[in-house]
Amino acid sequence: MRTVFHKVVGALRVPKLIKICSVVVGILFLSIYVTTSPYGDSHSEKDKARPASTRYEQRAPSRDGIGKIYMGREISEIMGHLAAGWLERPEREREEMPNKLIEMLKLKKGDIVADIGVGTGYIARRISPKIGETGIVYGVEIQQEMLDILEKKMEEEGITNIKGILGTITDPKLPPNSVDLVIMVDVYHEFSHPYEMIQNICRGLKVGGRVVFVEYRLEDDNVPIKRLHKMSELQVIKEATPHPLSWIETLHGLPWQHVIIFEKVGTE
Ligand SMILES: C[S@@+](CC[C@H](N)C(=O)[O-])C[C@H]1O[C@@H](n2cnc3c(N)ncnc32)[C@H](O)[C@@H]1O
Repeated sequence: MRTVFHKVVGALRVPKLIKICSVVVGILFLSIYVTTSPYGDSHSEKDKARPASTRYEQRAPSRDGIGKIYMGREISEIMGHLAAGWLERPEREREEMPNKLIEMLKLKKGDIVADIGVGTGYIARRISPKIGETGIVYGVEIQQEMLDILEKKMEEEGITNIKGILGTITDPKLPPNSVDLVIMVDVYHEFSHPYEMIQNICRGLKVGGRVVFVEYRLEDDNVPIKRLHKMSELQVIKEATPHPLSWIETLHGLPWQHVIIFEKVGTE
């Protein structure tokens, strides 16, 4: 006996049936993508609502990691101040092209910049002439020893527009709504509290201000950096978008790093 189903299917020609199936599969795929993709708003809403107690997971630390997992990524150990010499290595010019990076930022005289995880000021000291005497670079660190090295280098080089700030592991202590551009070079993957840090970074940013993540490319096996000190573009976008940050562009012109840029959206 033919059921209603058989009647309906039988009445349809096979190509039409295939078309209907494709549309149904397409709709299903799209709904899964929107709810799980880093670009999807629903994903952001879900993470915004996630209580602090379940935001992070803990497991046995792997090599160079702290065993703390955020959005599927193990957070790396912090680079201690005793390794500060590595930040100033002469070959860094060739490996990272810091001047090319700074050109990409399109800074103007008078801009207020925050270099979070400033280290010895390798990047901040190169930003300093671009923003001039009317601009400020807030150099934020959690290691006082790094700030001491920065201070010494500023004196040697006659730099006066970088202001060191001793932050905490959750808060860079930026003045509210004051910063045009936040830059983090080889830093974000070390944050022990990435959610809280980005939340507080957003408080310090002006609406329309930019956040620039400069991370070693995980996607590129030829970049000779330890696994947990590299990040994929998708992972950065996934972790940034629960915050009031909208992805603007990713620049690929550096030898080892990608430059992933967001803008603060909203009204405050
Ligand atoms: C690998 S170094 C990079 C330094 C500098 N950005 C550069 O490219 O030369 C990372 C620095 O980030 C700092 N850091 C880690 N977590 C931080 C946090 N929550 N707030 C501020 N600085 C942090 C570390 O103390 C370390 O000096």
